[in-house]
Order: sequence, then C-alpha cells, then structure tokens
Amino acid sequence: MSDLDTLKQSVLSDIAAAADEAKLEAVRVASLGKKGSISEAMKSLGRMDVEERKIMGPALNALKNEVADAIAARKDILEADALEQRLATERIDITLPVPAGPAERGRIHPVSQVVDEITAIFADMGFSIAEGPDIETDYYNFTALNFPEGHPAREMHDTFFFNPKEDGERLLLRTHTSPVQIHTMKAEEPPIRVVIPGRTYRCDSDQTHTPMFHQIEGLVVDKTSTVGTMKWVLAEFCKAFFEVPEVDMRFRPSFFPFTEPSLEVDIRCDRSGDNVKIGQGDDWLEILGCGMVHPNVLKAGGLDPDEYQGFAWGMGIDRIAMLKYGMPDLRAFFDADARWIEHYGFRPLDLPTLFGGLSRV
Ligand code: DAH
Repeated sequence: MSDLDTLKQSVLSDIAAAADEAKLEAVRVASLGKKGSISEAMKSLGRMDVEERKIMGPALNALKNEVADAIAARKDILEADALEQRLATERIDITLPVPAGPAERGRIHPVSQVVDEITAIFADMGFSIAEGPDIETDYYNFTALNFPEGHPAREMHDTFFFNPKEDGERLLLRTHTSPVQIHTMKAEEPPIRVVIPGRTYRCDSDQTHTPMFHQIEGLVVDKTSTVGTMKWVLAEFCKAFFEVPEVDMRFRPSFFPFTEPSLEVDIRCDRSGDNVKIGQGDDWLEILGCGMVHPNVLKAGGLDPDEYQGFAWGMGIDRIAMLKYGMPDLRAFFDADARWIEHYGFRPLDLPTLFGGLSRV
C-alpha cells in the first residue's frame, strides 16, 4: 500500500508542477502511458495471488482514475491560463486614433455644401430643384427676360459670347440663372415652386468676382402669391441658412428688367469683429435681388399674366458661402489647393438637413 501511496504522491505532485500543456502530457505518458508507472503497476497484478489482487486491483484502478481526473483538471487550468495570456498579449487599445480612410480625408467644397444647405431649406418648404444649360441663347439669357434690344442692362452683364454661328447667331455663357425661369415655365404647369442652382459666367475677376461663379434662383408662379409671400419665404430662408432665430431684413426698391416691382434685400449684420455676424449690429449687407415676375416674362414662359402671378429671386452662392463661413477671397474657391479645401471643406458624411443641423458650425 505504501508503495502505491508514494507513487500517487509523486504523480500528483508532477501534475501540479506541470507548467504547460506539453509538460502535463509528458506526466500523463510517464504515468498512464503504455509504459507508464501506473500501467506497469497494473501489469504486476498478474503476478499476484488472488487475495493480494483483490485488494490491489481496485486500489490501482482508483489510482488510475484519480490521476486521470487530476490530469484533466490541471489541463483545464492550463488552458484557461494560456487563453488569459493570449488575450493579454493580443489586447487592442481602442483609444488609439483611427487612421483616416479615403472617405474621411475627402472634403466637400463649400459651394457644394452651401447648395446642399439651400436646397435642404427650400425642399422643406415644398420647392423642387430645376437646372438649365450653361450655354444659352441671347433669347433665353436676355430677350425672354424682358431685356430690350440694346438696353444698357445687357452691357452690365459682361457677357462671354461664342463666335457667331453661320446664321449669325451668337451663343453665350449664361450670365445668370434667370433663363432657367423661362425653361421651367415652359416645361411645367403652375403652381411652380423651384430653386435653380448653377454656374454662371461674367468677364470679371477680383477678390470677390471670378469669371465663373454660382447663383441660385428661386421661382414661384401661381394665382395668389404676393410680395408678402415672398418676404416670408425669404425671411424663413435667411433664418434657416444663417442658423439664427431672427434676421432683420430691409427691402430696397431696385431695378431688374424681369421683375416689377424689383427689390434688393439687405440683412442686418455686425462687421466690427473679424467675421461678419448676421442678425445683430448696425450694418446692412446686400444678399439678394428679387421681385414680382414681370408680365412679359410670364408671357415668354407661355403663361397668361392675367391669370398667373409670382415672384423670383437670385442670389450669389459663393458670396453667401464666403459670408457664412468667413472665407476672405473668392478666387481661392477655384484654386484647387488641397490645404484650402482641407481647411474650409466639409466632411462627406455630414449631410446638411434641417433636423440634423445644416452646417454644424
Ligand atoms: N439675375 C439677377 C442677377 O444676376 C439676380 C436676380 C434678381 C434674379 C432679381 C431674380 C430676381 O430672379 O427676381 O443679377
């Protein structure tokens, strides 16, 4: 018996001392393997007499089971330890900054951002978006908009003309988005509520003018809209766009051939600091031209001015982008300088919505 006890103690202490699964396996082979100490002891049963075997048989079996159980238990512990160690060495530091992927590095140009902001605001008021060609005829750019032949207002537009065609007609790069008013009236039945963003062109270049720039036009035609409706629409737009609760607006009489009456809109601002602040202060800033659509323009659009009326407005997108986001020089908009776009651009997935916030300024 005492031999068995010694064997048991020695095997169990070997099991307890096995520091990894390989060493434990070696202990298993040395005890329960074919030539292991316990297996050898089992073999000696054959040489014993019956009485001795009656005692030693069960005792050896019990030892065998106890050792097998101890090995299994140790194995569980070693496996858990190994896993623990692996987890510790493979730990990921989730506080490390994620390197920017392509979608993170790209930027939305402020002009695109402002177009998205403006269209989000007007879409919310039930407007749809219309577009028209950059290359126009003299008729759509001027005549249909009630610019008389030879009228000085034509000269003021610094138009880029193409070389005359064989029939003498000179196409041009549209000087404003207003010709799309005519295209829209011809294509749609009133009630019409559209905004028209697009590129426009004039032969002009300085800090606040570039030969290509952007405008957004608005057109409403129905049977009931008045100057009052127009003022409300423009006031709501200004509040939403500049993200302020109130904007003071000043409507000044003006002249455009395609509207009667014509008005220019100024908004109250504060220019005392580095940036212009909208909605407060003692200064005024002109932001758009507007008016009731001239009867001749309705006619050119194929509508009866005795039945229909409406209003329109036009606004420089680049200009209000500069204003809202404090960009000093318009020419930089079109320099394609990666540092500029990195600084002034917008993140691609921050789409402007009225409910999510327009700009997150
Ligand atoms: N087309 C004008 C311009 O480029 C802007 C404008 C003024 C558009 C009044 C309008 C309007 O629709 O009603 O200067």
